[in-house]
Amino acid sequence: MQNDIEKVIFSAKDLETRIAELGEMITKDYEGKELIVIGILKGSNIFTSDLVRKMNIPLKIDFMVVSSYGNTTESSGVVRILKDLENSAENKHLLIVEDIVDSGLTLKYLKEMLHARNPASIKICTLLDKPAGRKEHVAIDYLGFEVPDEFIVGYGIDYAEMYRNLPYVGVLKREVYEK
Ligand code: IMP
Ligand code: MG
Repeated sequence: MQNDIEKVIFSAKDLETRIAELGEMITKDYEGKELIVIGILKGSNIFTSDLVRKMNIPLKIDFMVVSSYGNTTESSGVVRILKDLENSAENKHLLIVEDIVDSGLTLKYLKEMLHARNPASIKICTLLDKPAGRKEHVAIDYLGFEVPDEFIVGYGIDYAEMYRNLPYVGVLKREVYEK
């Protein structure tokens, strides 16, 4: 598995340090608010789990599973909800937690959909941002790191469902996905 990685861009230590900083910022911003942290599965599972343990405030954790319509991930931008929230979003502060923002289509759609449920607020926290891929503007409220326009895996992020368990974020060798 390690042999398929071109280079490590963020080590386990880098991730831990940055996530602690994000947790501290979020803790300050949501003091005294009714917060639901919404992890977008499966990619943000590991990030969400580490992040919430750096947030020293009462909160609920919920998860959504979403999938793009069509054959490719760069389809219409219409997202199918495979698993919805278990909590009511009405009058709650929602923090969407994503693994990586690429085109922005998924989050744009998701945010609009959650808006219709009359939450008190909606913010976005993503571990990684790949600005080179952007097609739709999305306001990122909390960002871990920017990444170059390369295929990223690890720390929850997959290629063909593999590599999610790498403890670091790395670039996948081209030969792995071009063969
Ligand atoms: P988008 O912003 O709607 O294009 O979708 C972002 C989603 O695409 C992420 O949640 C990932 O599941 C996936 N994705 C985007 N870039 C990468 C990458 O470099 N490696 C693995 N998955 C990616
Ligand atoms: Mg994803």
